[in-house]
Amino acid sequence: APTGPLQGRKVVVTAGGTREPLDPVRYLTNRSSGKMGFAVAKAAQRAGADVTLIAANPTLEAPEGIHLVKVQTAAELLEAVQREFSDADVLVMAAAVADYRPAEVVDHKIKKTADNQTMSLKLVRNPDIIQTLAPTKRANQLMIGFAAETNDLIKNAKKKIQSKKLDLIVANDVSQTSIGFNSDNNQVTFLFGDGRQVKTPVESKQKVADQLIEIVAEEFKS
Ligand code: C5P
Repeated sequence: APTGPLQGRKVVVTAGGTREPLDPVRYLTNRSSGKMGFAVAKAAQRAGADVTLIAANPTLEAPEGIHLVKVQTAAELLEAVQREFSDADVLVMAAAVADYRPAEVVDHKIKKTADNQTMSLKLVRNPDIIQTLAPTKRANQLMIGFAAETNDLIKNAKKKIQSKKLDLIVANDVSQTSIGFNSDNNQVTFLFGDGRQVKTPVESKQKVADQLIEIVAEEFKS
């Protein structure tokens, strides 16, 4: 049986980038590799937690013992998180969720035509998963978000912690290619609800994940 500071706790982690279909052969997506979320799932498992990893279009293998739920779109991700969150102690939203999806999914391949040199796509907003779940969140549940920014990192992340009512946000600068998307390394700032900030050095995503899980374990200590 697992032992560790998160023994008996259910941790739900989302990872990867959602895909929003346009027609049977095309979709819109983003550069998320899923590495950060998988590292968080691993760290939580090592800390003794019962881990459910909801992965959008994963390219990595889930470690044995982790419950893997595979999804494609933001809508499917929302549905899966809603199912798993109610009896969870912790939700870590590391997935890169598409903000918009094509307004309609066409059932045949969209063709180019000789007279159409340009084409416009109509997109509609996807629901914000964290904000959808926030009203159902109990006082003893932790909700942790990520903020990937290319500019005004701390300012934007602080806004997010408030608008999304998060307990913690992991902010990272994705304007540098040595860290962030698809890299094995990351450098983040942990921003707490009370305004505290902890900046990590550039280190492996696994190390960042281990630190995040240490913070979570600390919350459940007393
Ligand atoms: O607003 P932004 O997308 O930058 O916020 C990032 C955080 O919000 C991440 O934790 C991400 O998983 C989450 N998110 C969400 N639902 C969305 C978009 C982002 O829960 N539709």
